[in-house]
Amino acid sequence: MPAPLLCPPALLQTDLRGRVYIVTGGNSGIGLVTVRQLATQGATVVLACRRPAEGEKAQAVMLAAGLPGVVEVEALDLGQLASVRAFAARVTARHPALSGLVNNAGVMNTPKGKTADGFETQLGTNHLGHFLLTELLLPALRAGAPARVVNLSSCFHDKAQGREGHIDFDDLHFERRPYDGWEAYAQSKLANVLHAAALARRLEGSGVTAISVHPGWVRTNLVGSFMPVWVQNTVARPFLRLAGMIEPWEGAQTTLYALLAHEVEAHPGAFFSQRGIYRDKAANLGGWPLRSPNPHAHDAAAAARLEAVSRQLVGLA
Ligand SMILES: NC(=O)c1ccc[n+]([C@@H]2O[C@H](COP(=O)([O-])OP(=O)(O)OC[C@H]3O[C@@H](n4cnc5c(N)ncnc54)[C@H](OP(=O)(O)O)[C@@H]3O)[C@@H](O)[C@H]2O)c1
Repeated sequence: MPAPLLCPPALLQTDLRGRVYIVTGGNSGIGLVTVRQLATQGATVVLACRRPAEGEKAQAVMLAAGLPGVVEVEALDLGQLASVRAFAARVTARHPALSGLVNNAGVMNTPKGKTADGFETQLGTNHLGHFLLTELLLPALRAGAPARVVNLSSCFHDKAQGREGHIDFDDLHFERRPYDGWEAYAQSKLANVLHAAALARRLEGSGVTAISVHPGWVRTNLVGSFMPVWVQNTVARPFLRLAGMIEPWEGAQTTLYALLAHEVEAHPGAFFSQRGIYRDKAANLGGWPLRSPNPHAHDAAAAARLEAVSRQLVGLA
């Protein structure tokens, strides 16, 4: 397996004092490393999580390490639009200018289910919750420009365990087609890519750059829906590493690059990928940025339609 793509070390030493970032799902996996790195560089980071007790545990560890930045814990359940609205109101009252929003939280291959607002669980959590959050934070991001919005997508937006990623506008919530957890994940991760692309078009000239990323195949709790996390982290770990699975600090590199590198401003709406598994083998080496092999990821009409539908679904129309 080729070595993972890594951020230039100097980028991870830049001074981020005075900057404020929000990271959703910041209590675990890639999000937790992202919070820690930004705080190491002196930033104020809002660690947004659905289980605040877990966020506070992570906060205590970072406090004990004496990091120069500030970590604030805030409750956010992306599966409840009321929680998203309350979170955005609390955070923007305290931080009217933001340098970055990392839409990192996610669920994968969940059983058939609905969010509190009646959306299919994965589309609702991974895309619609983040869509509303981003809209509500846009004034603060514009005020903090230059700023970034980084959506955590996946190479599975292209193909997830054999299911090709596409948005089924006639049946977004699997009400008429049989439910398939991987198909729903692929749809939600393609939505993350299209969301960033449409947002970038709308934000042209604002100083706010929206992009999406694939973090690599990373050893986190995400695996829980199809393999016990303890198996991944113990007996299977050496074999999974040989097969290409990377550690959370490596998985956070693409997010940090997308958030911090100046070059990213030249690629609004682009997709940045760690090593991955794509239908087109040439894409497997990743790229910052990478042209997605999924033709649907380049469909500007679909991106605009998804934006309009999402706006309506979250009550912003
Ligand atoms: N790991 C990989 O190989 C991989 C590959 C491609 C893409 N990704 C993407 O990377 C992102 C980060 O995932 P990860 O691998 O770091 O997994 P993880 O360790 O499971 O972290 C996911 C985070 O999302 C949070 N979350 C889940 N549902 C939520 C909700 N309703 N509201 C708020 N937060 C919620 C989780 O909270 P709890 O701790 O409370 O569950 C957790 O903090 C995801 O978007 C994922 O799709 C990961």
